Amino acid sequence: MIETKLHDDVLEIVMANPPVNALGAQVRQGLAKALADAQGDPAIKAIVIRGAGKMFSGGADITEFGKPPVDPWLPQVVDAIEASAKPVVAAIHGMALGGGLEVALGAHYRIASPKARLGLPEVSLGILPGAGGTQRLPRLVGVETALGMIVSGTPIAASKAAQAGLVDKLAESDESLAAEAIAYARTLTAPRRTGDRSVSADPAVFEQFAAQNARKIKGLDAPQACIAAVKAATELPLDQGQEKERALFQQLVAGEQSKALRHVFFAERAAAKIDGLPKDIQLRPITKVGVIGAGTMGGGISMNFLSANIPVTMVEMAQDALDRGIGVMRKNYEATAAKGRLTAEQVEKAMGLVTPTLDFSALADCDLIIEAVYENMDVKKEIFARLHGIAKPGAMLASNTSYLSIDEIAATTTRPQDVLGLHFFSPANVMKLVEVVRGAKTAPDALATGMDIARKIGKVPVVAGVCYGFIGNRMLIPRQANANALLLEGATPEQVDRVHTDFGMPMGPFQMADLAGVDIGWHRDPSRIESLQDALCAEGRWGQKKQAGFYDYDEKRRPTPSPVVATIIDDFRARAGIVPRDISDEEIMVRTLYSMVNEGAKILEEGIAQRASDIDVVWNYGYGWPRHKGGPMFWADTVGLDKIAQALTRYQQALGAEFTLSPLLLECAAQGKPLDR
Ligand code: CAA
Repeated sequence: MIETKLHDDVLEIVMANPPVNALGAQVRQGLAKALADAQGDPAIKAIVIRGAGKMFSGGADITEFGKPPVDPWLPQVVDAIEASAKPVVAAIHGMALGGGLEVALGAHYRIASPKARLGLPEVSLGILPGAGGTQRLPRLVGVETALGMIVSGTPIAASKAAQAGLVDKLAESDESLAAEAIAYARTLTAPRRTGDRSVSADPAVFEQFAAQNARKIKGLDAPQACIAAVKAATELPLDQGQEKERALFQQLVAGEQSKALRHVFFAERAAAKIDGLPKDIQLRPITKVGVIGAGTMGGGISMNFLSANIPVTMVEMAQDALDRGIGVMRKNYEATAAKGRLTAEQVEKAMGLVTPTLDFSALADCDLIIEAVYENMDVKKEIFARLHGIAKPGAMLASNTSYLSIDEIAATTTRPQDVLGLHFFSPANVMKLVEVVRGAKTAPDALATGMDIARKIGKVPVVAGVCYGFIGNRMLIPRQANANALLLEGATPEQVDRVHTDFGMPMGPFQMADLAGVDIGWHRDPSRIESLQDALCAEGRWGQKKQAGFYDYDEKRRPTPSPVVATIIDDFRARAGIVPRDISDEEIMVRTLYSMVNEGAKILEEGIAQRASDIDVVWNYGYGWPRHKGGPMFWADTVGLDKIAQALTRYQQALGAEFTLSPLLLECAAQGKPLDR
């Protein structure tokens, strides 16, 4: 995994551990040996370290965390690089992340190709840079820049790194980097050690930084530890600072938050893998996309493709709906441009790629057609029946349905192999999740292309099987049913929502209902009041859009508890003969969150999700489940499956006659196994 080449008096050490040159034990051992050998070889005057393949290094090997350590540790290797008596140059292309950047910080000089990116993303894994990064980066670029990089975890471009003093020299290109690095190394006469430098800062800087970022870092262990470690760099010599860094690292890496965040990292990558599909499957080319429906979803979905430079033909039934949809898309783009995240040219370029039309047959040259009309099976069937005559052979036909059967929709065509679900989440131009729904007859290449195109437009796709609500929305069903029942039994919307937001969800069930629209799925007959939802809808309390739902809203959409809703709930209780009782937060947890876990277990049993971690990805990216709690399935394992099964059994009566415990959950609990298929 380490190759060495002697170029006259310069030794080139190349890390070759594809795909990301992770710094696993063999790489560390090889690096340490090559370096030590070079010290004793009088023919070598200077050393260059670089990475083979697409990057310098993606950092420490994350799969080694939690396992017994193997010598040498990365901090020892980095210290050995810095201690080299001969000048060491790091030659960076692609990415230098985490331990990768720490290796480069141990080097005496750094040269980077213009496209390189450098960063310390450990915080997103719930840890801190543990190989001297928190001590050397501030010594090199100052406290402010170092804090920004380490606490956000966001990599910076080579040009910015050069301005900050992190990079000494920019190479012409990736291709010329190796030769330029060797030539550069030849000009250097002595080591220049970052650890010999010192850095100082007013101690108040750290408190100010924490206060400014309070919202982002609230409840998270790693960012606090990062700040403490950088502070140590201003107070202690390198070796003592590194001791402090190591102690903090050990604490974090053993903690629940880091375990959860590492799980999310691997879960996201596992979700890309589809069971039973050949690796070398030929993908269908997607160069033009059709979207049927210019409503909120159709517009949001289209924007994803336009932003990725893929032309979209957008079809509507009526000109005013089409004009309105196009107008909303432009407004959204312009709002992004106003925040400085797009240029005016980029807005025009994206909008120039959309062809609005009322003519259905304009979809004939599209490679992928996505239906995004409202949730009505008859309407969807009619559209797909029309589509199979218009779409060109091999074109993929997708529905953005949130609940309905892809198989039933596919049956209206003579090409069910081309049909699949692409379920985007609202707002579709922002939310990362796409459930790629595999129908009984969806062709493997259509499924693989669905996953691939979703990734190309920047989404995180997860495969789901056909059932009512697929993965995410199906799990919402028991959650919402219990949340509603809890209101009648004595809880308030505020209490139920608070339990969820305290847990770390961005919003609770009733805040979500108000955002999505309380009227979704309502029968539209104000005289027919059978549920709380019917009662609210009958009073025009349709949610945020009406400034009234489970909460009252002001013109800035700020919620306050609603006395009207309290009265509606009271009336409802009285009519149903329910005497309200005190509801504990624990009961809310069990009935809304544990019941969701139970539904997730059923989804696994039925093979609707391929693996438990896919369900976690759905909840992370579709519903804002707190990443440091992994996802509902990972979280269930940390709570204890036994405890969950027992609690659900205790509340079985309240959970309703239809509630059953998942046999898979019970089986995993009994065998002490993680919850998975
Ligand atoms: N350790 C182990 N495996 C890693 C890895 C790492 N640091 N980085 C990536 N991989 C694996 C992925 O799991 C994936 O494996 P599979 O193909 O089996 O799924 C494979 O490498 C390719 O990864 P991606 O699909 O993510 O490839 P990409 O080209 O899209 O992205 C990347 C590359 C930007 C490096 C991205 O993988 C990434 O962000 N990696 C993590 C970077 C990171 O957090 N580094 C810090 C590590 S912690 C550290 O270094 C601690 C310390 O201070 C001692």
